Amino acid sequence: MKLLAAFALLIDLRAAIQAALLPTLYALWLEPLLLLRPTALSRTFMAYVWAAFADVVDEGGREVKADLITPNATGIVLDIGAGHGHTINYLDRSKITKYVALEPNTLMHHEIRARATEAGYSETNGTLLILSCGAEDTESIISSLRVDDQPPLCDTIVSVLTLCSVPRPEEVLTTLARDVLKPGGQLLFYEHVLSPRSDVAWWQRFWTPVWKTAFDGCRLDRPTHLWVQNIKPRDDSVAPALFWRDESRAWGKPGEPEEHLFWHQTGRFVKA
Ligand SMILES: C[S@@+](CC[C@H](N)C(=O)[O-])C[C@H]1O[C@@H](n2cnc3c(N)ncnc32)[C@H](O)[C@@H]1O
Ligand SMILES: *[C@@H]1O[C@H](CO)[C@@H](O)[C@H](O)[C@H]1NC(C)=O
Ligand SMILES: *[C@@H]1O[C@H](CO)[C@@H](O)[C@H](O)[C@H]1NC(C)=O
Repeated sequence: MKLLAAFALLIDLRAAIQAALLPTLYALWLEPLLLLRPTALSRTFMAYVWAAFADVVDEGGREVKADLITPNATGIVLDIGAGHGHTINYLDRSKITKYVALEPNTLMHHEIRARATEAGYSETNGTLLILSCGAEDTESIISSLRVDDQPPLCDTIVSVLTLCSVPRPEEVLTTLARDVLKPGGQLLFYEHVLSPRSDVAWWQRFWTPVWKTAFDGCRLDRPTHLWVQNIKPRDDSVAPALFWRDESRAWGKPGEPEEHLFWHQTGRFVKA
C-alpha cells in the first residue's frame, strides 16, 4: 500500500480539528462540567464536525444514495444515525408514510426537524418521529414503534455511515432485521467497511484507536457488509440463507480505489 494512501486520513483529521476545536473549547468555557461527561463532550465536538462536513460527505455519496434509496425506500422508514437528516433528500415523499430519524446526538435534532418539515413531514400528524436513543437500544426502538401492542413493522431501514459507530453492531443489526423490519422489508446501507485487502486492513486497524477517539466511536475495521449477509433467522430449523431473499446483495462504490481507507460497500437486502 502506498504510504500516501496510508496517511491520507490525517488530512481529514486535521480539517475536522480545525473546524470543531474552537467551538468545542468555547462550549467547554460556557459549561466546564462537560469535562466530567466525556460522551457529551465527544458529541459536542462531533456536532461541530458534522455541521462543517455533512454536506461534503453527502455530496461524495450522492450517486450511490440516489440509486440505492430513491427507487427503493417505501412506507415506514427507520433512518439509523440520521445526522442532519440528509437521507430525507433521497426519499420519494409520495412513497413514504412515516420517517423515523434515530439520532442519539440531540444537538443535531433541530437540523433533522428543519429538513423534514421542509420536505413535508410533521410530528403533529405522525409522519415524522425523532428518537434520541442509540441504535443499540433496540428495546426503546421497538417500544417507540409499537402500534396497538403489535411488534413494529418497518418497511425500510436505512443506515448511511452509521454502523461504524454503533456498539455491538452485529447483535444490533440482527435484532433490527429480525424484530423491526417486516417480511418483504428492506435494509438499505451505505457504509465504510473493513477492506478485503490485508495491507489496507492493517492500516485501518492501525488508525481505528485514533479515529474512534476523535469521531464519537467511528471505527474503520468493521466488516459490516458481511455481518448483514450472515444474519440468520431466530429459528434454527430454517436454512440460514432464507433470511434474505435471493435478490439481496452488496456492491462497491463505482470508481473507488482499492487502497481507500474508507472502503465503501452499499447493500440492498430484502427480508424473506
Ligand atoms: C457520519 S454520521 C452520518 C449521518 C447521516 N446518516 C448521513 O449520512 O448524513 C454518523 C451518525 O451516527 C450517529 N451515531 C453515533 N453513535 C450512534 C449510535 N450508537 N446509534 C445510532 N447513531 C449513532 C452520529 O451521531 C452521527 O450523526
Ligand atoms: C433498488 O435499488 C437497486 C440498486 O440500486 C436497483 O437496481 C433497483 O432497481 C431498485 N429497486 C427498485 C424496486 O426500484
Ligand atoms: C402531515 O403534515 C405535513 C406538514 O403539514 C403535510 O405535508 C402532510 O401531507 C401531512 N400528512 C398526512 C398524512 O396528514
